[in-house]
Amino acid sequence: MAQDSLVTTLYTDAVQFMKSYFLLFLISLPIARGLFKRYGSPLRGYPGPFLASCSRIWRLWVTYNGRSEHDHIHVHRKYGPIVRTGPNELSFASPEAAKDIFAVGKGIQKTDFYWVFPPAESPDVFTEIREWKHAQLKRFTVQPYSLASMQKMAPAIEDVERELIDKLDSFAKGGKGTVDLGDYLHFFAFDVLGEVAFSHRYGFIRTGTDVDGCIKYIDEVQWYDGFVGQVPWLHYLGRLNPLAPYLGLSLKAVQVTRMALEELGKRKQLDNNGRPATGQDDLLAQLIQGHSRAPDKFTEADVFAVAHGAIGAGSDSTASTMQSFFHLLLNSPASYEKLVDEINAAHAKGTLSDPVSASEAQDLPYFQACLMEAMRLRPAVGLNIYRKLPPEGMHIDGTYLPGGTEVAVNGWVVHRDKTVFGQDADDYRPERWLEANAKEMHRHMYQGEIWRYWR
Ligand code: HEM
Repeated sequence: MAQDSLVTTLYTDAVQFMKSYFLLFLISLPIARGLFKRYGSPLRGYPGPFLASCSRIWRLWVTYNGRSEHDHIHVHRKYGPIVRTGPNELSFASPEAAKDIFAVGKGIQKTDFYWVFPPAESPDVFTEIREWKHAQLKRFTVQPYSLASMQKMAPAIEDVERELIDKLDSFAKGGKGTVDLGDYLHFFAFDVLGEVAFSHRYGFIRTGTDVDGCIKYIDEVQWYDGFVGQVPWLHYLGRLNPLAPYLGLSLKAVQVTRMALEELGKRKQLDNNGRPATGQDDLLAQLIQGHSRAPDKFTEADVFAVAHGAIGAGSDSTASTMQSFFHLLLNSPASYEKLVDEINAAHAKGTLSDPVSASEAQDLPYFQACLMEAMRLRPAVGLNIYRKLPPEGMHIDGTYLPGGTEVAVNGWVVHRDKTVFGQDADDYRPERWLEANAKEMHRHMYQGEIWRYWR
């Protein structure tokens, strides 16, 4: 009986305490959780922003700000080559770390960041998290994405080039007003991808508009995915929320999606081994051929996802690279003149066709140097790219890390490594690519890692 009353008293006191200090309790709970994450983790010895070690709010904040690349450069300069960017996350600055993180066949996985990217029901090579399925998808896409396949599409790509040049010439001859070159480079990327993927010209350059709002759509989707992907469960409050249509968060079927679906239907009816009526092996044709060889391993849904994904993954990245190329070059009159001189000299020698072919462009060293310098200073992806370590853990750049740790690199950080790219790594100086160290720099370019990862 006495014991019963003791329990009752304790219970009543506890309830009374909770009632009196409820607010304090509510506030202290996330603080205690954050401190536990900070100090209870095997990563506690790594430096980084205080908030980042306690919660992913720091990651959300820098992504929301839209200056993630600059924030990561800043934290690496402040804290060193390894920075704790989340409770269970480390960001690396060295090119050697990038090699370890993108190593193939070591059990390193994509994180659930990729899970929020559409189409959820049928992930493509970019969004697939399961390693075995990703490897399977890659087997069917390496050939269609290869340089050799792209070269076969050269006539169609050159045709789009001509259209762009004619359009820009017409503006120049008109002599009135201004034209946004950045917009036209984006239009160009879309029209090229339409040709490469579906043998279809979307008409971005012809109309001089963002056809069907595709660019705006991809911008919005990427902004949402980039932000929500930092804390993927937020997706349930966003696009997966039953109220999403009323909050304007639902995905709409823009022309890119419709085109992929319609073309797929048309090609099936044509019965021309996946090719369009004009007969070329574009990306969709090669994917359909892969599906015919192994329908159970590379399904029709995979064909759609990969073809559709190519437009999403390929349009913004190429547009952004071309925009960076021109932005940096046009802001550097000396480099601009040097490049124009190189092109004029090659033209005078008769070594350039109209339009210039890819192999002729390879023989323009200063042009190649400007291109590499643009990709070095302003790589298309500004977010940290995270991967999850296998359960047994592994060494990244010589440091052992426990299984499940999320490790990342950011191209903007890696490409400013002074030991590889020189003391003036922050500056735009295409000449560095024509000096003795060029081979070493090529070896450490971030897209090189992605490229090797692809093969
Ligand atoms: C200059 C142009 C490009 C740049 C700088 C670029 C950059 C990148 C980067 C950094 C990634 C890794 C992203 C991540 O894992 O989170 C990536 C992945 C990918 N890119 Fe590109 N990209 C370019 C052009 C293209 C084009 C034209 C296509 C397709 C037509 C494409 C398709 C893909 C795909 C499918 C992936 C996922 C690969 C995988 O996870 O296995 N990219 N790209």
